[in-house]
Amino acid sequence: MDTEILRIDRDHISDSDIKRAAGVIRSGGLVAFPTETVYGLGGDALNPDSSKKIYAAKGRPSDNPLIVHIYDLGQVEKIAMLDEGSYRIDRVPDKVKALAKKFWPGPLTIILNKKENVPYETTGGLDTVAIRMPSDPIAAAFIREAGYIAAPSANISGRPSPTKVTHVIEDMTGRIDMIIDGGDVDIGLESTILDLTDKAPVILRPGAITDRDISEVIGKTGYDPGLKGGENAAPKAPGMKYRHYAPKGELVIVRGDGERVRDYINARIQEDKHELIKTGVICPDEHVLNYRASVVKCTGKLGDEEAVAHRLYSILREFDSEEVQMIYSEAFDDEGIGSAVMNRLLKAAGHRVVDANDKEE
Ligand code: TXA
Ligand code: MG
Repeated sequence: MDTEILRIDRDHISDSDIKRAAGVIRSGGLVAFPTETVYGLGGDALNPDSSKKIYAAKGRPSDNPLIVHIYDLGQVEKIAMLDEGSYRIDRVPDKVKALAKKFWPGPLTIILNKKENVPYETTGGLDTVAIRMPSDPIAAAFIREAGYIAAPSANISGRPSPTKVTHVIEDMTGRIDMIIDGGDVDIGLESTILDLTDKAPVILRPGAITDRDISEVIGKTGYDPGLKGGENAAPKAPGMKYRHYAPKGELVIVRGDGERVRDYINARIQEDKHELIKTGVICPDEHVLNYRASVVKCTGKLGDEEAVAHRLYSILREFDSEEVQMIYSEAFDDEGIGSAVMNRLLKAAGHRVVDANDKEE
């Protein structure tokens, strides 16, 4: 299949280009497009064949549901049941409205019970549907023209989500009809997923919008206990149980006091070098000269977790293409968007964490 690459300027969005891209969706094709979080791989959410094509293009298990992207709040009631099932009729619509007022358009996905018109091919067989209204102007114009767009991240299953169009081109060329090149994304990590189908609201995937942000609007909201990676609870979002974002090399996170972390990582690097293992380090700009690894990747200024979010997936892809075999990452602050950064980093590392303070000198 030929994949057309369509460059769209975020500041001067061409109507005719958007119409052409939306036409591909309406005729059952697939189009990758930028959002403020990561690039999405879009198809018509209400067309079961389009969703099947999405799974095939990504190589993704078909029990892992897709997010439906909308551009207008009025679309929610067309695809979600707001006043039936387990909902308290008078309350839940208000909750959704309050959340939408504060966070939409933006990096928040809300899970509600689905209406019949949303095919099971889109929801991975579930009776619930994940809904998000992206703020990226290209995404918004594209969805407005196309209707309801089902879109997972536009990576091949198991690779880091794409934050640059080159990542999408790498993964999707020959697999989909069109890629909209809208430049680099803004945030760099996927949206926060909030489940409103149970009595208490639960975050199934951390993102730029935190538990605290959501609690301020709808009251106490916690994280799915299954996110911790323990044996007892499985994560509630089917996608969170897969080992995503795994770099080709081995990745270990090292926490502890600054000097201890530096000394521990350098000692490991020394050992690896003896065995001719190519090493890499992920650290803030200020620490770049601390490490003697073959490759050192900087995440931005110390304490700037938004910068880490912006760069993380790109860095993981770079390590892959440079064939780094052993990667050490400093741990980042778990506050704010840092909790989403650490969630993705821990998954990429298969939860391998070393505390340098516990190690002998
Ligand atoms: O930022 C984002 O959310 C990006 C952009 C493109 O919008 N999309 C994205 O989609 O990250 P994807 O498919 O890579 O991740 C969707 C996650 C998966 O973990 C999936 O299991 C979960 O959302 N999910 C979708 N629908 C669900 C549902 N009805 N119940 C529980 N989890 C759901
Ligand atoms: Mg994904």
